[in-house]
Amino acid sequence: MALPTINPTQTKAWQELQNHYQSMQNNSIKEMFQDDTTRAEKFHIQWNDFLVDYSKNNINQTTLNLLLKLAEEVHLKEAIAQQFSGESINQTENRAVLHTALRASENDTVLVDNKNIIPDVYQVKKEIEIFTNQILSGEKKGYTNKPFTDVVNIGIGGSDLGPAMVVEALQFYKNHLNLHFVSNIDGDHVNEIIKKLNPETTLFVIVSKTFTTQETLTNSETIRTWFLKSATQLDVAKHFVAVSTNLEKVTNFGIDKNNIFPMWDWVGGRFSLWSAVGLSISLAVGFDNFNKLLKGANQMDEHFKNESFNKNIPVLLALISVWYNNFFGAQSEALIPYTQYLQKLAPYLQQGIMESNGKSIDRDGKPVNYQTGTIIWGEPGTNSQHAFFQLIHQGTKLIPTDFIGFVKPLYGNQDHHNKLMSNFFAQTEALLNGKSAEQVQLEFDTQNLEKSKAEFLKPFKVFEGNKPTNTLLIQKLTPETLGSLVAMYEHKIFVQGIIWNIFSYDQWGVELGKQLANSILSEIENKSINKHDSSTNFLLNHFLK
Ligand code: F6P
Repeated sequence: MALPTINPTQTKAWQELQNHYQSMQNNSIKEMFQDDTTRAEKFHIQWNDFLVDYSKNNINQTTLNLLLKLAEEVHLKEAIAQQFSGESINQTENRAVLHTALRASENDTVLVDNKNIIPDVYQVKKEIEIFTNQILSGEKKGYTNKPFTDVVNIGIGGSDLGPAMVVEALQFYKNHLNLHFVSNIDGDHVNEIIKKLNPETTLFVIVSKTFTTQETLTNSETIRTWFLKSATQLDVAKHFVAVSTNLEKVTNFGIDKNNIFPMWDWVGGRFSLWSAVGLSISLAVGFDNFNKLLKGANQMDEHFKNESFNKNIPVLLALISVWYNNFFGAQSEALIPYTQYLQKLAPYLQQGIMESNGKSIDRDGKPVNYQTGTIIWGEPGTNSQHAFFQLIHQGTKLIPTDFIGFVKPLYGNQDHHNKLMSNFFAQTEALLNGKSAEQVQLEFDTQNLEKSKAEFLKPFKVFEGNKPTNTLLIQKLTPETLGSLVAMYEHKIFVQGIIWNIFSYDQWGVELGKQLANSILSEIENKSINKHDSSTNFLLNHFLK
């Protein structure tokens, strides 16, 4: 059955939200807190190790009721069931969307073309486990009989960002292997990595769902040529493994059949870290930790699937984001983790969110007349406080922000952690309350500042406040909580795609540039420039001079 195709702006809830917005647009969040001291108790969810406080938003119970009504009117419940049960909801590619099956329990049944896919999922997980243990124990060795010390993940987009983000995030749980990631087709990138490697002790994991991606194939060839300067063709089988759906292309590349970890077309690239695409995660932190990551994601899946919408974390975060995106006209959202470990979370989610929901054609094939995908960006706090927070506090743009923090640090350095977390709490409080002209004047008075100077400085020192934030306070950064966190954002993406009546799981928009690059490459190689616009011609001629 196809996904519902309901234009959200035609729903009753949307009309009501539009009216409601009139009364909320100049509303003060600070005053809502003053009027209702139980606000935080009302607008939070406690689930497993997560405390999600969404009270510092410009919403009241009516807003939530209307947003929940919108979810009902676009048939979100039915759409969730369709996704989890393996219906071909990626209609433009005629595929099911089942990253959730990769972390389902072994007794589950998920049918694709009438076949239960769970046994295959568990078979590949077993292969990942065995291979990981063989590498970590030193049972599998390199061509000169030395144990492996380094692993290079060669892939791009979903075949790079997920593993790279998780390996960085779970550094604390890492074993002795050094992990490297080669993604960009920029030859300088691969050369910088190669320079750190010893071919005798390095394992290469080529990750490409399609095995047709120019960047990954070019980098793999460059690396293989470098490897063969010291090793022989026969040694390739010991050092190169691949993760792909395209078994034929992988074998043509020269990779041993036994060294291929399969994936399936029902796993989208940007949702694939849970599959064998996560092999480098398993190698970095061990299979048990990889499995815990999947468990954490599965727990969030169950919450998302079964919890009523008014207590459902991904659903509520998605709805609040729609409220700002479509009614307040917010263009972007920031994501600020208060841990250095999550420094790659925002770049990772940029692909997840923007490749999924950066669409302007609805599920009826018609152009949308409302805003879709949000722009996502961010950096860890406190670094970002010293970089772009000025604009969030006093700029002209509305930037709803997610703050992600942890109750416990991993190394137990409480002094640092208290300082880190005091910033975490202080920022959301400052964004909410701001600083009034009266407060600024009081400060001037205590400093005995000259009247004329005080008058001049006052407007610059006032903070308007009223800036919306969500706070996610998680017990500790573990493989499980990370799995739950990433799955939470995955489901938020899905909910928003359903509301906006777009297809979240295709990415046709990345094709045109790839096609043009191929034709320009042959023009560059043949030194014969075709007719382009005058700017492109001008630039190409300069490049080839
Ligand atoms: O160009 C975008 C994209 O198709 C992503 O969706 C995908 O994650 C990436 O390229 C890499 O694709 P592959 O895994 O097939 O090499």
